This record gives sequence, C-alpha cells and structure tokens, in this order.
Amino acid sequence: MTPPIAFSDVFRTGRRAGILGATLALLASPALADPDGAEIYMDLCASCHAESRLGGTGPALIPETIGRLRGNALGETITNGRVATQMPAFRDTLSAAEIDAVASYVKSALPDIPRWTADEIEATRALSPDYTPVAAPVFSADPMNITLVVETGDHHVSVLDGDTFEVLDRFATPFAVHGGPKFSPDGHYVFVMSRDGWVQKYDIWALQEVGRVRAGVNSRNIAMSSDGKWLAVANYLPHTLTLLSTKDLSVAEVLPIDTVSGGSSRVSAVYQAPQRASFILALKDSPEIWEVFTKPEALFEHRRIDVSAPLDDFFFTPDYAHLIGANRGAETGVVVSLDAGREIADLPLPGMPHLGSGISFMSGGKRVMATPHLSEGVLSVIDMDSWTITREIKTAGPGFFLRSHENTPYLWADVFFGPNKDKMHIIDKESLEIVKTLDPAPGKTVAHIEFTRDGKYALVSIWEDDGAVIVYDAETLEEVRRLPMKKPSGKYNVWNKITFSDGTSH
Ligand code: HEC
Repeated sequence: MTPPIAFSDVFRTGRRAGILGATLALLASPALADPDGAEIYMDLCASCHAESRLGGTGPALIPETIGRLRGNALGETITNGRVATQMPAFRDTLSAAEIDAVASYVKSALPDIPRWTADEIEATRALSPDYTPVAAPVFSADPMNITLVVETGDHHVSVLDGDTFEVLDRFATPFAVHGGPKFSPDGHYVFVMSRDGWVQKYDIWALQEVGRVRAGVNSRNIAMSSDGKWLAVANYLPHTLTLLSTKDLSVAEVLPIDTVSGGSSRVSAVYQAPQRASFILALKDSPEIWEVFTKPEALFEHRRIDVSAPLDDFFFTPDYAHLIGANRGAETGVVVSLDAGREIADLPLPGMPHLGSGISFMSGGKRVMATPHLSEGVLSVIDMDSWTITREIKTAGPGFFLRSHENTPYLWADVFFGPNKDKMHIIDKESLEIVKTLDPAPGKTVAHIEFTRDGKYALVSIWEDDGAVIVYDAETLEEVRRLPMKKPSGKYNVWNKITFSDGTSH
C-alpha cells in the first residue's frame, strides 16, 4: 500500500511547477483567476477516481456519493487523505483555495446521467481465477447459523460461526457496502452490493469470493428472486433496474425506469415478494410502484401501481398482500393493496417512519407491526387489520433499527439519533413496555440487532471504527461476548434471513 505522504511528494514537484507557471502567466492579467477544480481533478485525482468521476481504484466522486460527507469531511479527506488506504494527503500539494476548488468540482452534478448499458456492465464482470467450488462447507460450523457482519470501517465482512462466535473468514468488499447482503435460498452463497453499484458474490461454504460485477453507477440495494435465479439491483444512476443471473453475475436485462409521465426515475429500493414471485420497486421520482415478475412465463415483465405521491421505503405484510409506504415530505404512510393495485388506507405516521426497519410479531395473540421513526423518539405499533396505530412507545430518541425473533419475548430498539445513541431499549412483546435499557458503551453509537438462528443470543453493534459486536443472552440480557470489529453496521444470520424469520426486516 502506498503511504499517503510519499505519494503526494511525488506529485508536489510537478504540480507546483505547473501552478507557478500558471501564476506567472496570470500576473499579467488584471485579476488572479480562481483555481480551476476540474483541471486539478484531471491532474491529481483522475488516475484513481477516473476522468468520468465514476471511480476506479478509488470510489466514485459524484454528489450522489460524497453528499453524505458531513461538514468539512470532504475538504478534510482531500487535505489529510485516508490513513492505511491509497487515498493520499494533498495538504503539501494543494493550497486551501485549490482544495476548495477541487471539492466543489467533485460536488457538482455530472453533465449527463451515465448510460451504463448491459455491455458496459458485462465489461466489468470479473470471476475470481482462484475460486474453487466445494461440495460441502469447509468448516464444521452449522452453515445455517452463520452470521455475516458488515464492517464499514475498513470495507470488510466477517463470517461468524453463530454457535461459537469464532470468525471463520474476513473478506474485503467493494468500497461502501450499501443495503443488506442477500443469501441464496440454500444459504450457500451471499451477494453484497456497494454504493458504487458493485455486486460481489461470495461462497460461504468455500469461504471464497466467486466474482464481482458493476451493475450500476450509484446503487441503493439488491433483492433476490424467490427461486434464487435472479438478482435485482436498484440504481439511482442510471435510472434503471439491473437484473443479474445469480449463477455467474452475467446481465440478464437492464430495465429502464420510464415513468408514467414520460420521464425517468431513480429506484429507491427493490424488495423480493416471495409469494408473488416478483420484485417490488420503490420509485424516487414518480408516484408509482413497479412490480417486476420473475416467474418464467412472464420473466421481467412489469406492472405499475399508481400512488398519490412517490413512496420511499416499504414495509410488507408477511403475506405480501399489502405494503405500507412512507411519503417523506408529508410524514404519512399509505397502505397499498398489491392485488387491487391501489392505495386502500392512510396512516398518520409523524416523524419520518423508517418502514424499511419495520417488523411484524405476535402480541396479545395478534400479529402487529412496529416501526421506528427517524426524527421522533417513538415506535408506532400498528394493527394490520384496521390499519390504525394502537400504541406509541416513547423512546430515548429516534431509532434506526428494530428487531425481534419468534423465539424471544422481546423487541430490541436502538436510539440511533441524538444524545442517547449509546442506549438500547428492550421491550416486552406482550406489554409493549420498555423493560430494560442497555448502556454497553457509554458515549458510543450502539445500534442494529441480529439474533442467532435459535433466537437465544442477540448481537448488537458498537458502531465505531474501534467498535465491537456484543453478544447478549437474549433471555437474561447479560453480555456473554464482545468481539472487536471495525465499525460494524449490519449483521445478517443465514437462517433468519432465508426463512423470513419473525421480527426481521427484508
Ligand atoms: C492513488 C489513488 C488516489 C488518488 C490519486 C486520489 N484518490 Fe481519493 N481515494 C482513493 C481511495 C483508494 C479512496 C478510498 C479510501 C477509503 O478506503 O476510505 C479515496 C477516497 C476519496 C474520497 C472519499 C470518498 C468517500 O466517499 O468517502 C474523496 C473525497 C477523495 N478520495 C477525493 C480525492 C481527490 C479530490 C483527489 C485528487 C485531489 C483524490 N481523491 C486522489 C484513491 C485516490
């Protein structure tokens, strides 16, 4: 790996000479021109981030991706580089004004939406030359109780034995994994997607990467068809849904998202609807939902469901007959009947519901759903027959994730946003009261929960660069293990995901 300083030293001489020449030339003109961000980019950044800004050895640098860098994190990254990565520090190469100029340039919109055709996707497909398939797992752990931990701190996934909590493998992912990984129906393979649209296929039994392909330029999440044959990739850029063969990651189809009004739309998310043999798509820029079929007789045909406003993020009833969508602006939810193909009820859901984290579970002999809210410290419990809110559980702040399991008496709810981000509420499924609040790492973000296959243990992330996964006994609520991890975000148990376990979001 190239040490950041040495790299910028190489550039310094050449770059400075160039600037000096330019400055001398400008002295003759009336005003000193501002530094040209595009020119600096082509000189110093394009070799790694690509002239197109769509990424190369470094990630894509476009507003869609670096918009998430808060405050001066962008300028900071350019100034100081990223330790232990190939991203060099430019503090000795560029002036503050030049750093500002190149930062503005990478924040500016791309002149055109990249096309990213099937041929372009295919050209990126790379199967690992060393990969050797295996007939059975190379480990003795229960292959159905494997839990993957996505470590966003250094872009790796740890493969955990769900019984012993031993790390069986730790593999590098593409930069910035986004959305949940998806398992094949037999739990043999997993597919991981990155923000820059790379899809990686990993063989859990062999503990080896099978290959990867760049299915989009800027992507949101993936879903697998119920028959395990197809993987759908929801793209922001371009305005498409990419359909890949799960076998070899080859492109089956690139579906343009042409809207009812004649424009095109980003796809906010794609979901698998197993009972319907279809994918359901949330469209960001058009008041419609798409259903894309995966049954052989109508492969990749789609239908539109008109809704009153674009819906961001979905919760499905367990039979996949209905979905609740959140309308970001209006802070309401709407219930859509997938069979009838229309909205059937409104739900007042203040404080931006995070329906993608909504779960359903049994309470008082009845199946209910619950959802956290992104801007209010409350969990809404919803009756799915009458579509009314039956309970609001006040929490210590807005939460991001909510989880349960059919074999556990509790719901676990984090308090991701605000000063109490180090808290984790444990809520009794019957009384719907908070029975305990954990505080395992004061001052740090404690978030996201996954259970082991049997529901006996709950795994919680300390979401920090020097973080950990804490293993709790899900009944006594005592800590049993603490595994050091680099900013662990999501955790995904093979069994809970492939069986659509109660209390898991999908
Ligand atoms: C030698 C290759 C290389 C060069 C040259 C380079 N970068 Fe990078 N850059 C990277 C890599 C690799 C990363 C990912 C680092 C990580 O893992 O966090 C990165 C990350 C970044 C990020 C953070 C992106 C994110 O989404 O978190 C920014 C911003 C960035 N580079 C800007 C620049 C700019 C501006 C220049 C030119 C002035 C530049 N880089 C030159 C390799 C490079």
